[in-house]
Amino acid sequence: MGDEALQLATRFVEERYEAKTSDYSSLEPLLASLARPPRSEPQALSSLLDTIETAAGKGFDTANPGFVGYIPGGGLYASALADFIACVINRYTGVSAPAPALVQMEASVLRWLCDLFNLPDSSQGVLTPGGSMSNLSAIVAARTNLLGENFLNGRMYVSDEVHHSITKSARIAGLPESAVCVVETDQYLRMNLEALQSAINEDRAVGLSPFMVVASAGTINTGAIDPLESIAEIAQREEIWFHVDGAYGGFFQVTERGRGRLRGIERADSITLDPHKGMFLPYGTGCLLVKDSEQLRRAHEVQANYLPASSEDPGLPDFSSFSPELTRDFRGLRLWLPLHLHGIDTFVQALNEKLDLAGVVYEELQAIPGLDVPWAPELSLVAFRPPGPDEAAEALLDRINSSGRMWLSSAEFRGHTYLRMCILSHRSHPQRIREGLEIVRAAVNG
Ligand SMILES: Cc1ncc(COP(=O)(O)O)c(C=O)c1O
Repeated sequence: MGDEALQLATRFVEERYEAKTSDYSSLEPLLASLARPPRSEPQALSSLLDTIETAAGKGFDTANPGFVGYIPGGGLYASALADFIACVINRYTGVSAPAPALVQMEASVLRWLCDLFNLPDSSQGVLTPGGSMSNLSAIVAARTNLLGENFLNGRMYVSDEVHHSITKSARIAGLPESAVCVVETDQYLRMNLEALQSAINEDRAVGLSPFMVVASAGTINTGAIDPLESIAEIAQREEIWFHVDGAYGGFFQVTERGRGRLRGIERADSITLDPHKGMFLPYGTGCLLVKDSEQLRRAHEVQANYLPASSEDPGLPDFSSFSPELTRDFRGLRLWLPLHLHGIDTFVQALNEKLDLAGVVYEELQAIPGLDVPWAPELSLVAFRPPGPDEAAEALLDRINSSGRMWLSSAEFRGHTYLRMCILSHRSHPQRIREGLEIVRAAVNG
């Protein structure tokens, strides 16, 4: 069974560079056949694998080197192998006692991440299913520690470019809709500091309780980085929780340029990272780092008499004490194996390549007559639009995406529809990006 599955996996990876970036052909009959319930009798693995392979070929191909829509991930093969092994051994890593050595492996990667952001020894990381869940735990930690049980008067501050998972998390955390105060952004789409300070002042004046500010380290629309150092300053002065949503941009911290641009992030009370974005891992791998582990514990831990006594060893934590999850997959191996196998320098080089490519894309798009390319990339994302109404932008997007070699997404902000090219797949190298630029050029002219 393993050999057959591995053949599928290897073929899939090898075909990526030639595969079309999207395919919705003959979808209806396939969906109808896949809607059937399982049969009573067994079926041959080979035919089931064929079905999986056919289904995997439909839609837009997020593992494709030409995929630059939304925030790409990629799906590192070494991580997939790690996941396969983790599922086969199926050891329990929700608490440390059942598999202390495996928990140590996961804890070592989290410590490396805390160190990467210069967080103190008191810090704690936890792997989550994704950035949304990390943001949720961060908001619950801020709410619990700063507001206690009477939190309906609480106010948190986000920019108008913040990812919607923050607003969603606030709602799930039980905060009223009015608790989220949206602060305007400046011409670079970064949080306006004066607007932030006035909003806090006004809220205090009417008896509300400011408790948290969320800065974005790489917004979804343009990759803008809020002024982290100054927001840290305000948060410290106002004694409110400083959360940085670095789901997209956080991992650029391994590069020198990234460290420069993310300066101030080390002052955060909590940081969301998404290894399934910036570390190219398969989906389902998020991360939350919190400066004071006790604050994260207070928000999540509940004692249970049928579980082993809680770990008192900060080096060997019970992950369930720091997250909503008890039983969960052994996520740590997804990071541990590729980091040790490829070495950190490989990730540094890969992320530097993405920063370089975004620079090239920005310059080349600017050189195309008529295209509006308003924001120089701070990370690896370039937004642009053709002249004319939003329909022209949508039509341009369709022409580009129908090439089958490049797949972009669009978003509406600042009153217009923009096309976005976000370069973050480990498979996106100069040759394909240059080909993509040719496709954009031809699409603009055609
Ligand atoms: C800035 C930002 N924050 C949070 C998220 C949510 O992360 P996830 O999709 O892993 O839940 C995203 C996803 O694109 C994002 O770009």
